[in-house]
Amino acid sequence: MSIQEIDIGSGTMPVSVDDENRVVLIDQRALPQSLSYFDASKFEDMLYAIKHMVVRGAPSIGVAGAFGLAGYAVSITSEGKSLSREDFLKQLEKARIEIQETRPTAVNLMWETDGIYNKARELVEAESELSPGQIAERLFESARQTMDEHVRKNRKLSEYGCDFIPKDPSILTHCNAGSLAACGWGTALGVIRSAKIRGYSPTVFVDETRPRSQGARLTMWELKEDGIPSKLICDSMAGYVMANKLIDLVIVGADRIAMNGDTANKIGTYNLAVLAKYHDIPFYVAAPLSTFDRNLEEGSGIPIEHRDLDEVINVNGASITVKDAEAFNPAFDVTPASLITAIFTEVGVLRPDFKDSIAKALA
Ligand code: MRU
Repeated sequence: MSIQEIDIGSGTMPVSVDDENRVVLIDQRALPQSLSYFDASKFEDMLYAIKHMVVRGAPSIGVAGAFGLAGYAVSITSEGKSLSREDFLKQLEKARIEIQETRPTAVNLMWETDGIYNKARELVEAESELSPGQIAERLFESARQTMDEHVRKNRKLSEYGCDFIPKDPSILTHCNAGSLAACGWGTALGVIRSAKIRGYSPTVFVDETRPRSQGARLTMWELKEDGIPSKLICDSMAGYVMANKLIDLVIVGADRIAMNGDTANKIGTYNLAVLAKYHDIPFYVAAPLSTFDRNLEEGSGIPIEHRDLDEVINVNGASITVKDAEAFNPAFDVTPASLITAIFTEVGVLRPDFKDSIAKALA
């Protein structure tokens, strides 16, 4: 069955570039109430958009960061500005660090922006006839290619993932690892979308994912767009759902995977993995290779982003607790590799021993 035969859409592109090379983001803060757009062509606006989650989800943040840095390169070399190649690289290096500090856990941001910076350095060193302005144009083109490759990679890993799920699966997922998060198609949701295209009949339990409610707002929206049956649950209901045999498997995305398979993902993922182990339910992670951190042996070294306490204290702008309440808001947790059944990637499905299978996949 071909994709065109089923009206499932190809997912929503969270990042796009218009005819005048303006970088436009879907404002994910406004969903599901409205589908609105945010112009992130200016460097400062892209920094704001990543930090404040206009764009979010590790792979989408990576692509947005690549455009942020490449767009910055274009802006400092645009007409009338003369810049030496050395100063060009220095300014780019400063901007790269600034972008990378916006969301510290999602390693795709480091991976993609390092890629843009390293390309700039190579071009400066190797192609002496290119001006900084010409190099900047190539960097922008490179960011565009990165974006275009995401859908292909996500579809590939989704196909591999489908081989591991039953024909009429009931699936639990957490946060949003759909096309909005993964720059097209999706990772965890990509597998579910591909399963539907295969002719399977997936149904999905969606964790609301407090405090930012990515499950309730974004995953529910994407599943509805695709006509895939879904039920929203509060995060605290996952144990009940598993104990009552209402799901066959769990699939989540990832923000950073260490070389031993330990996986950082949205806070609450670890709880699900422990519950799944207890109930003997497969726990799958779906992620592109750009989510693996080649410099990190194990998960204890993953930096965990802590966010504004207001996210916990307030719901829809109104306090849900006592006046002057203290709170705690780690945005991610790390699931030990021992709780993970398999990792779906674009080069195949990785199984334990993850140290070995990850090293082979990245080689
Ligand atoms: O804080 P967010 O919304 O950027 O966190 C996103 C997640 O944790 C996703 O589940 C993860 O990035 C995987 S996205 C394919």
